[in-house]
Amino acid sequence: MSKLSHAQWSSKMAFILAATGSAVGLGNIWRFSYMVGDSGGAAFVLIYLACVALVGLPILVAEWLIGRRGQENPINSMVDLARKNGRLPAWALVGASGVLAAFLILSFYSVIGGWSLSYTLGSVTGAFTGQDADGVSAIFTGLLGNPVALTLWHTAFMALVIWIVARGVTKGLEGAVRTLMPALVVLMLVLVGYGMTTGHFGEALAFMFSPDWGAVTGEVVLAAMGQAFFTLSLGMGIMMAYGSYLGEDVNLIGTARTVIILDTAIALLAGLAIFPIVFANGLSPGEGPGLIFVTLPLAFGNMTGGMILGLMFFLLLTFAALTSAISLLEPVVELMEERTPLSRMAATLVGGVAVWVLGIAALMSFNVWDGFLILGLNVFDLLDTFTSKFLLPLTGLGAILFVAWRLDRDSVATELNLSGGQATLWLLVSRFVAPAGVILVFVSSL
Ligand code: PFF
Ligand code: NA
Repeated sequence: MSKLSHAQWSSKMAFILAATGSAVGLGNIWRFSYMVGDSGGAAFVLIYLACVALVGLPILVAEWLIGRRGQENPINSMVDLARKNGRLPAWALVGASGVLAAFLILSFYSVIGGWSLSYTLGSVTGAFTGQDADGVSAIFTGLLGNPVALTLWHTAFMALVIWIVARGVTKGLEGAVRTLMPALVVLMLVLVGYGMTTGHFGEALAFMFSPDWGAVTGEVVLAAMGQAFFTLSLGMGIMMAYGSYLGEDVNLIGTARTVIILDTAIALLAGLAIFPIVFANGLSPGEGPGLIFVTLPLAFGNMTGGMILGLMFFLLLTFAALTSAISLLEPVVELMEERTPLSRMAATLVGGVAVWVLGIAALMSFNVWDGFLILGLNVFDLLDTFTSKFLLPLTGLGAILFVAWRLDRDSVATELNLSGGQATLWLLVSRFVAPAGVILVFVSSL
């Protein structure tokens, strides 16, 4: 059934755009910068870069490969492939935990998407014009302390996601990704340029790239790896699902490199834009999830043309967040569509509303439930921590182990266009380096 309905991507470009749309989002700008700030800077950044290259790249390739061979939703793909290779369907758990992760992540992702929407409006109304650090902090604290406003913005964002997925107009967004992504990069460059005028750019550079290895803890390493998985949309079945639409002609390794370079560049630019503002205004890098929402409005509120640039920036950020959020809802809907009698429309509504409800619990962590802690974490942090530091790496580990150890190695090498030394390198990285990396990080954080 699903094989017949599974059309393939019209072109390689469409696939790259969809994968980029999923990867580039709040993770690059909002989450990356606040994690760097929370984790003390450069050591985190460098470990993150190592994780992206040594663990992220092979796992991204592995997920696409599983999806392309399986041609179905992540769970069915793993089961079918495992059966074909005479293995237990226990591998299906890997697919299932990915879908669970996508569900949990979308709940708090939508809350932040709502913040981005709210700041888009704030830019239009000139709320940030001429504000100082105290002023923008007060605006942000005001938003956090208002559960009704947070719920409305979260609802607006989630409604957009549900509407787009239910209508199945995801494909229509690919064209937009092609033009809006470069626009986002240009705006980031403008912000980095502004950072250079603050007189604190050098400080920001040192903070991001001159590591104090003595301060590295297992916790920092785990956070860096979690960020690598989160930002590349790994360990969630999403890239597997995309792979299932992928034609045989697409070069997986080359495409993975392209997507990863773009994603990483945007994150680093975000850091270079945000930290000069932090240091110039005596803010704390460890501000937490509000970091971009107190720094960037300061820049926009005090530069010429800042109102229009701010509006464009938050619009583009919201758009990037939407394309990622859509990719998070997709696997949940796809699974429900194939496993239950629900239509696509009904599956999208049921899944979307369930995510929305959980999101409300997440946003109440910032106000009425801020004293409600489980294992020392509020609901928001718990959802984020459990997924990025635990579910994603475990699922990704399952995917790479499956491809490296359970699939026929010659056919994998052929599919990846590798021969000779390159094939050996792939074998080494996929069998040992990447899995050992994930396992070591887990062990070191205990
Ligand atoms: N990679 C996205 C980002 O960096 O914002 C977030 C995301 C999308 C995570 C899709 C996971 C996912 F499956
Ligand atoms: Na990302």
